[in-house]
Amino acid sequence: MKKKTIEIEYQSVQFEELSQENQMLIRKADEIRDKAYAVYSDFYVGAALLLDSGDIVLGNNQENIAFPSSLCAERVAIFYCKANYPNSKIRKLAITAKSIKEAYNEVVTPCGSCRQVISEYERNQNSPIEIILKGQNEVLIFKSINDLLPLSFETLVINPKK
Ligand code: THU
Repeated sequence: MKKKTIEIEYQSVQFEELSQENQMLIRKADEIRDKAYAVYSDFYVGAALLLDSGDIVLGNNQENIAFPSSLCAERVAIFYCKANYPNSKIRKLAITAKSIKEAYNEVVTPCGSCRQVISEYERNQNSPIEIILKGQNEVLIFKSINDLLPLSFETLVINPKK
């Protein structure tokens, strides 16, 4: 038996330490977060994508009385992005959250389904998508979705290019 480990490297930085570009992207995520349709959870999430063209695409969570019909902010943004800018590459994704019910100071990390969707487009565009997670006291930066979804599903049968 061999014991194997996976090490994940990410940065923890203060908002003021971020580049102007990253600060701007987080501000955009904050703005769209506050327009979320989160009438059931009161948990507001915003996602801002920066494309290689310089375009910015925004999304927020959209809830539904039939709960499984809801969609997270990240997927709202990414699906809109790939529908409207199919040839652009996504360089960065900033995510921010706010709870109306109670103070929420933590970073919000994308759910498993969102990680899978981000991973799909990162693989397809063949360049990493930087993930920027904003909390009240720190900002976490991951270089690639691979760091949030290690050992992701891949198969030579479906993806014979590799
Ligand atoms: N949510 C997101 O939009 N993104 C995440 O990364 C985690 C959760 C949404 C789904 C639901 O509308 C609300 O937050 C509470 O789970």
